[in-house]
Amino acid sequence: MAAIAKRRQTVTTTPSGPGGDPPKRFQFRLLKSKRFRAIHLTIHPEDLMTTYSAADSSVDQLKAKIQQRQARVGIIGMGYVGLPLALLYSEQKFRVTGFDIDLRKVDTLAKGGSYIYRIAPEEVQAAAANGFSATADYSQISAMDAIIICVPTPLNEYHEPDLSYITDTTHSIAPHLRVGQLVVLESTTYPGTTEEVMIPILEKENQAGLKAARNQAPTGKEFFVAFSPEREDPGNTTVARRDIPKVVGGLNPQASELASVLYGAIFNRTVPVSSPAAAEMTKLLENIYRCVNIALVNELKLLCLRMGIDIWEVIEAASTKPFGFHPFYPGPGLGGHCIPVDPFYLSWKAKEWDFRTRFIELAGEINTNMPYHVLSSVAGALNRHKKSVNGARVLVLGVAYKKDIDDLRESPALTIIELLQKDGAQVSYHDPYFPFIGKGRKYDLQMKCAELNDLGQYDCVVIVTDHSDYDYPRIVEESQLVVDTRNATRGIKSANIVHC
Ligand SMILES: NC(=O)c1ccc[n+]([C@@H]2O[C@H](COP(=O)([O-])OP(=O)(O)OC[C@H]3O[C@@H](n4cnc5c(N)ncnc54)[C@H](O)[C@@H]3O)[C@@H](O)[C@H]2O)c1
Repeated sequence: MAAIAKRRQTVTTTPSGPGGDPPKRFQFRLLKSKRFRAIHLTIHPEDLMTTYSAADSSVDQLKAKIQQRQARVGIIGMGYVGLPLALLYSEQKFRVTGFDIDLRKVDTLAKGGSYIYRIAPEEVQAAAANGFSATADYSQISAMDAIIICVPTPLNEYHEPDLSYITDTTHSIAPHLRVGQLVVLESTTYPGTTEEVMIPILEKENQAGLKAARNQAPTGKEFFVAFSPEREDPGNTTVARRDIPKVVGGLNPQASELASVLYGAIFNRTVPVSSPAAAEMTKLLENIYRCVNIALVNELKLLCLRMGIDIWEVIEAASTKPFGFHPFYPGPGLGGHCIPVDPFYLSWKAKEWDFRTRFIELAGEINTNMPYHVLSSVAGALNRHKKSVNGARVLVLGVAYKKDIDDLRESPALTIIELLQKDGAQVSYHDPYFPFIGKGRKYDLQMKCAELNDLGQYDCVVIVTDHSDYDYPRIVEESQLVVDTRNATRGIKSANIVHC
C-alpha cells in the first residue's frame, strides 16, 4: 500500500524544463480543438527517452543491444503466453532462452516439438535455428539482458490471489540478477504486485547489492523493472499479434523506455503508462469490463428466455448501432485463465483499501450460476421428453472454454459435466482438441473423448463449446434432443433444439 502511495507522488513529478516548468511537449493539451474542448493527455515514448537516457549509459547500452538484435531475451514460463512471445522475439532474430520448471515442456521444446495446438513444431524448430533454447536452469539468467516473466496467477481454494508462481520465479531469478538487466512482469495481477512483491525480493536476494532503478540519480548499481500486461486473445485471427498495442509501465522513465524499446521490436505500438501499478490496473480494467458485460448479457438472456424473446436477435440488432454499443454474448459460464480469475485479484486487493468492488462480485455471482442454468435447462428439456437427468445419456459437445482453442482451464463444460454426473446422468463428451480429460485444478474427470457418430443413442446433446468444425445441421438431424448454450444452431429449424 505504501509503495503505491509513493508511486502516486512520482507520477506527478513530470520531468521539468529549465526554471522548473514542464517542457512544452509534456504539457497536457487540455484544449484539443476550438469546437470541442476535449481534455487530452499525450505521452510520447520519445519524451520519456530524451529526458533520462543520456544520463545513464547502461540504458543506452541496453537500448542499442535491443535495436541491433544483440540483446538476449529470457522468457520465464513457456505456456500459452510465454512460448508465443519467445517465438515472436526469435522471428525478429533475438537469441531467446525459455525458462520453465516443467521438464516435459523443456524436453519437448529441446526436441523441436510443441505442446500447444496452434503452434506447429516447425515454428519451434525455426526458432531453434535462430538460437532459441529452453532450460530449467536459472543460472542462465545472468546471461540475459531482458527477462520477461509469464507464469500463472491463479486463485487459491479461498478465491484469493495465489502469487506463489510469481514469488517462486522471483526467488529463482534474484541470485543471478546483474546490473543493467531489465525485468518485466507480464502475469496478470493486482496493482502493486511488481512494486510490493517482486522488487523487494529482487533487491533483497541479489548478490551484488543491486537496487531497482527509481527516480533518483543513477548509482551504477541498478537493474530496471516494468510491468507489461499480456493481451493475447487465443483463437482470434482477426488481429495480428503485432498489431495489438502493448502497454508498459516502468518503475521509472528509463525502465518504461527500455520496456518500450524491447516490445517495440515485436509490436507495432507501445503505450507507456506512468507506473507498473497503472499497467497492472489497465489489464484488470480490460478483463473486468468483459466480465461485467458478459454477466449483464447473461442476466438479460435469462430474462429473454422467460419472456420468449431471442437474445441473439436482440444483440445482433443492437450491434447495428454505429456508436456506444459493443456486443457481448451469453454462454454457459465463464472460462479461461483470465476472465473468471483476474477480477477477483482486484476485489481482494480492494479490501486492503476498505473498498468493496460490487460490480465484480455481482458479475461473479451471475456468471458462476450459468452452468447451473444449463443443468436446469437440460433437466427441463428431458422432462418434456418424459425423461429425467438421472439415468439419461448425455453428450457434452465441446469442452474447451471457447471455440477453436485447446485450452480447458476453468471451462464451464467441466462444471456442467460434474453437475450432470452428480444428478445421475451418464455423461460422454466430444471435443476435437481433447482426446482425454484428466485431472485439472478443480476436477478429476478421467474421461475419453467419444466418437462423433450414432448421436441418436444420446437422450440429449448439449452444445457447450461451438467449435467451427462441427456440422451443426447434421448434429441436429441425428440427435433426439439438442440443448444449445451458444446459438450454434442458429438458422436451423427443428423442434429438437432447446436454446438455453
Ligand atoms: N493464456 C492467455 O490467453 C492469457 C492472456 C493474457 C494474460 N495471461 C496471463 O499470463 C500469465 C501466464 O498465463 P499462461 O496462460 O501462459 O499460463 P500457462 O499455465 O500456460 O504457462 C505458465 C508456465 O509457467 C511455468 N512456470 C510456473 N512456475 C514457474 C517457475 N517458477 N519458473 C519457471 N516456469 C514456471 C509453468 O510450468 C507453465 O509452463 C497468467 O498470469 C495469465 O493470467 C494469459
